[in-house]
Amino acid sequence: MPVELYTITLILPEHLMENKPLIYLAPFQGITGITFRSVYARHFRGVDKLFTPFFTAIQHSNKLPARKLQELGEPYENGIEVVPQILSKDADEINRFAIFCKHLGFSEVNWNLGCPYPQVAGKKRGSGMLPYPGMIDEILGKVMAETGIRVSVKCRLGYYSPNEIFDLVTVFNQSRISELTIHARIGKQLYSGNTDLETFGKVISLCSVPLAYNGDIFSVTDFQALQKKFPSIDTWMIGRGLLYDPFLPAAIKGIAISANRQASIRKFIDDLYYAYRKQKNDSLSVISTLKEYWAYLSLSFDDPHKVFNRLKKVKTFDEYEDAVALVFREFEWKGSEKTRL
Ligand SMILES: Cc1cc2nc3c(=O)[nH]c(=O)nc-3n(C[C@H](O)[C@H](O)[C@H](O)COP(=O)(O)O)c2cc1C
Repeated sequence: MPVELYTITLILPEHLMENKPLIYLAPFQGITGITFRSVYARHFRGVDKLFTPFFTAIQHSNKLPARKLQELGEPYENGIEVVPQILSKDADEINRFAIFCKHLGFSEVNWNLGCPYPQVAGKKRGSGMLPYPGMIDEILGKVMAETGIRVSVKCRLGYYSPNEIFDLVTVFNQSRISELTIHARIGKQLYSGNTDLETFGKVISLCSVPLAYNGDIFSVTDFQALQKKFPSIDTWMIGRGLLYDPFLPAAIKGIAISANRQASIRKFIDDLYYAYRKQKNDSLSVISTLKEYWAYLSLSFDDPHKVFNRLKKVKTFDEYEDAVALVFREFEWKGSEKTRL
C-alpha cells in the first residue's frame, strides 16, 4: 500500500519563529501614526509590536469619532500586533477606550504613565502621576475589574526621583497588568541626560510583571551592552534608534538585511510620502509631518546637518521631491554604526 506523505506548515507569529528578544516600536506622537506603522511594517522586519502614539479625550459615546477610528487603524499591520495607547487619569475614560479597542479586534491597550511634558505632567497625567502611587492603584483597580482586554503600562522610573519606582512596582505587582515597560529616566529629565541603569537593574528582581526595557538603544552595540547587563530582560522597546535606522530591529535579531540599504531606505521614504499624501488628501501638512521624521532619519546619513538642511526649507511637493532626490544622489545612508554590512 503506498504511503502518502503530508507536509504540515505551521504559520507562527514572527517572534515565535525567530528567537527572542522581542522588539517593540515605541510610541511617538506625530510619527508612529497609522501611515507610518503600515508603511514601516511592509518594509522592515524584526519588530514584534507597534505602539500607537497616545490617544486622549475619549468622549462618552457609543462610537469613536471617524478621525480617531482612522488613526487606530487595524489590530495587525503586516502580521505585527498594534497596541493602542491612552493618556488619561480617568479610569472610566481608559475603560471606554479599552472597550472600543476590544470591539475593533485589538488585544491590548497601553496606559501612558511616561509623558514628561509640563503641560501634561503638571496635571498629574503621564509621568506627572508617578509620585502618586495610590492614585495609580485606584485607577488600575477599576480598570482591571472592568476591562476584558490586556492592559499594559509604559512609565518612567519616577517624575521627581528614580526612587518613586519602588512604591510603583508594588502597585504594578498587585495589579494584573500584562506588561510593564520602563523608560529608564525620570519625567523631569524629559529626553536628556543619562538613563539610570542602576535603578532599572534594581527593579528587575522586585518586579513580578513581565518587564520591558526602554531608553537610548541606538545601535546593535548599545543593545548588546544592555542585554549583557540585564540578561533576564528579553523585551526591548526602541524609539529614536529605530527612527534613525529602520533596519535596527532586524540587525539586532540577525535577520538578513537588504544588500542595498540606501535603495531600500529610498523606497521606504517614497512609499511613506505617497501614503501620507493619500491619507491627507494631498494637504501640504504632509511636508511638515515628513520633516519631523527626517529630523531623525537624516542622522543616519554621512552628513546629517546638510541632509536635514535640504529638507528643512521645502514648502511644496515639487521642492520636497527634488530635495529627496538630491539627498539620495549626493549623500550616503550609513545607518547606525553596527547595522553596516
Ligand atoms: C517627539 C516624541 C514623541 C513621543 N511620543 C510618545 C507617546 O505618544 N507615547 C509614549 O509613551 N512615549 C512617547 N515618546 C517617548 C518614546 O516612546 C520613548 O519612550 C523615548 O523616546 C525613549 O526611548 P528611545 O531612547 O528608544 O527613543 C515620545 C518621544 C518623543 C521624543
